[in-house]
Amino acid sequence: MPDQRLRPSFVNARPLALVLFGPPGSGKGTQSKLLMKEFGIPQISTGDMLRSHVRSGNALGAAVEAKMKAGVLVKDDVVNRLVEERLKQPDCERGFILDGYPRTRTQAEALCSLLIARGFDYVVVHLLVDYNVIIARLTGRRQCPVCGTLYNAISRPPKVPGVCDVEGAQLIVREDDREAVVRERLDAYQNQTRPLIEYFKEKGRSLFEIDASHDPPEAVFRKIEGLLQKQ
Ligand code: AP5
Repeated sequence: MPDQRLRPSFVNARPLALVLFGPPGSGKGTQSKLLMKEFGIPQISTGDMLRSHVRSGNALGAAVEAKMKAGVLVKDDVVNRLVEERLKQPDCERGFILDGYPRTRTQAEALCSLLIARGFDYVVVHLLVDYNVIIARLTGRRQCPVCGTLYNAISRPPKVPGVCDVEGAQLIVREDDREAVVRERLDAYQNQTRPLIEYFKEKGRSLFEIDASHDPPEAVFRKIEGLLQKQ
């Protein structure tokens, strides 16, 4: 049980959505998992939700698979519906972490309406990472298919190469982590997602920028935690 005194006020006092914003490979998933563990609020990753539909082979998965493989964004109405349904779950009542959503202005507007309707406030943490660091991180990323733990062949290798420390499962490489697809994803970020920073500013939201290029995940986490303490 984390020390209550160290908890950002939002967890105890008011429901708040934390939007982790940043390019592919900036560490949104890694930080979400640390925040989730520390504060007991759920991570809502649209990428994870979409991949789980693709794995299950249902109609939604079939409709989005080609776009994800190509590194382009899935249609707004599809992800907006997924998020709207997910936010109805009781575990979201105290707050939640959005990882990879919103990514377009239409998504940001849909999110704002949802949050206003539920009496939630939100803050945005923008993780800044250099281009070359992103390429190195994504080409080295490995993930456990059972527990979701993230590794990196260079910066966070598992104890036994290719095997999850927790589950003992064979680690997998994401299909969209090939360099050509990573470049498509970075283009999508630059053209469709990064401009949302202006949208958040227009809305007068708390927008924090964190240099997440060189520090290890735990140090980046402490920076985010420090910002949240002041909320
Ligand atoms: P999604 O799954 O959301 O991918 P992404 O945004 O491209 O982000 P990543 O998961 O690649 O990176 P991350 O920032 O989470 O970094 P991570 O922590 O894993 O989206 C995939 C696709 O789904 C999209 O292309 C699109 O098609 C679709 N999609 C999803 N959401 C959508 C939406 N809202 N609208 C439309 N389409 C949508 O870290 C990466 C690696 O770096 C790991 O190996 C990790 O161990 C390592 N690492 C992390 N932090 C550090 C650090 N501080 N130091 C050293 N290494 C680190």
